[in-house]
Amino acid sequence: MKTPAVLDEYPSVVDAVISSLLDHVQPPLCHMITYHLGWTDRNGEPVNGSRGKRLRATLCLLACEATEGDYHHALPAAAAVELVHNLSLIQDDIQDDDAERRHRPTVWSIWGKPQALNAVTAMHGLANLALSRLGENGTPFSKQQYSQRLLNETILKMSEGQYCDMSFEKRLDIDVNSYLDMIESKTAALITCSMEMGALLGTDEGSYIEAFREFGRNLGLAFQIRDDILGIWGVSEQTGKPEASDIANKKKSYPLVYAMQTAKGKAKKELIEIYEKETIEENGFNRVLNILKSIGAQAHSQEMAEEYRDRALVELEGMTLSPQASSNLRELTYFLVGREF
Ligand code: IPE
Ligand code: IPE
Ligand code: MG
Ligand code: MG
Repeated sequence: MKTPAVLDEYPSVVDAVISSLLDHVQPPLCHMITYHLGWTDRNGEPVNGSRGKRLRATLCLLACEATEGDYHHALPAAAAVELVHNLSLIQDDIQDDDAERRHRPTVWSIWGKPQALNAVTAMHGLANLALSRLGENGTPFSKQQYSQRLLNETILKMSEGQYCDMSFEKRLDIDVNSYLDMIESKTAALITCSMEMGALLGTDEGSYIEAFREFGRNLGLAFQIRDDILGIWGVSEQTGKPEASDIANKKKSYPLVYAMQTAKGKAKKELIEIYEKETIEENGFNRVLNILKSIGAQAHSQEMAEEYRDRALVELEGMTLSPQASSNLRELTYFLVGREF
């Protein structure tokens, strides 16, 4: 599927806002941030590195435009959610012990875990500074306060999600509902927040803000299930991450949760034996892939992702929106949950 044009449209304006905020951070601390964002190399020299989609920022701006708002008013919110997303990735790579992201070594694998945590904290500060700029363009105080509370509640939810994700590594009893709660917190919360804030800054119509919240929640769930599929069957060339790292990390991603519930007899016994060991050996790794294949876990996971994608689209279709922004949101939603690798 072709990358939607909208993913090329907003990132440069969002990056300009983030760049102006970065004046608050001195080198060399700021080099970790600009490196992670794909703007510089490890020495702070400008490069055209892989930058990420700026999905949350784009969703925020599109929700604002779709509800007939001026997207410029939502730019501080878009920068804030993008900063929160990126700090969560630096932290996530420490937590998942992943040495590669966006086709480059992760921040911790260059600067070490203790220093990488300083970049995380600095970006949290920058996200709050970004949001404090909402007042500069006439956003009412009540909406500024609402946005601040929403962002901070979201960060709390993300921490809870990451806590569960990591604690699930050692457990074999994760059912689908616990899994869905976990991904709703670690991933869908920020996508929800991005869309809700965008709509809040675009309209006063409560039912639309609520519909965008539901849109974001369902899209976020679909997006993480799709990421789980890529975390097992995606190729590095496309994902920019090591292949099948979710299996090596014993993640209870959706295909695994499905396998634990669906596999029977010898296959189920083997799965348990493999996951009860401290680390997964090459033999076990290949056996897990075979079991997943035998129960059709990939196709089933894709169906699940598409079910949540369609729930997201129901919210979209239920609103009367600016036609261009609405069509951009539909195209983006299909793209994010697409079937291609
Ligand atoms: C990756 O998100 C982390 C998840 C929540 C699955 P993205 O795929 O949006 O990351 P970038 O910013 O585009 O690299
Ligand atoms: C996604 O975690 C959620 C956050 C980063 C907070 P994952 O560990 O599933 O994401 P990737 O696959 O490393 O991007
Ligand atoms: Mg993780
Ligand atoms: Mg990860």
